[in-house]
Amino acid sequence: MAFNFNHLNRRRFLKALKNGLYFIGIAVFSKLTGRFINRAAAGSGTVQLNISQPNQPFRVYDRFFMIRDKDRLRFLSRTCPHLGCTVQWNDRAGHMACPCHGSRFTKQGRYLSGPAKADLHELSYELVDENNIKIFLEDG
Ligand code: FES
Repeated sequence: MAFNFNHLNRRRFLKALKNGLYFIGIAVFSKLTGRFINRAAAGSGTVQLNISQPNQPFRVYDRFFMIRDKDRLRFLSRTCPHLGCTVQWNDRAGHMACPCHGSRFTKQGRYLSGPAKADLHELSYELVDENNIKIFLEDG
């Protein structure tokens, strides 16, 4: 009985190809579900904020950064546009940075470098009364 190496090589090749496609499929699925889970964890909804405190030009909250430019308020989501990690303020460096893959943003939320390739998302808000505002948290 002769042993057919061509058959064995083809079988091994097809098995390796099948395994490769399997792992690629798992990687793609994990990346997509990870993105979805991060965004879902970041959540949506609203936060009410008292703005009667003395003027602070910049403040870090759990879910967003508050920037006060002259008389204008801006709220930037801390959810990284790349895969949804929470962006941190780096006081020493004077910029915002994502701890997951190193994307960096200016203090105004503009994209500087890294895989995010987009600015931080600006959140909209509305006045509740003269001292309170409602911020709409959405990440998408
Ligand atoms: S999640 Fe922020 S750089 Fe990847």
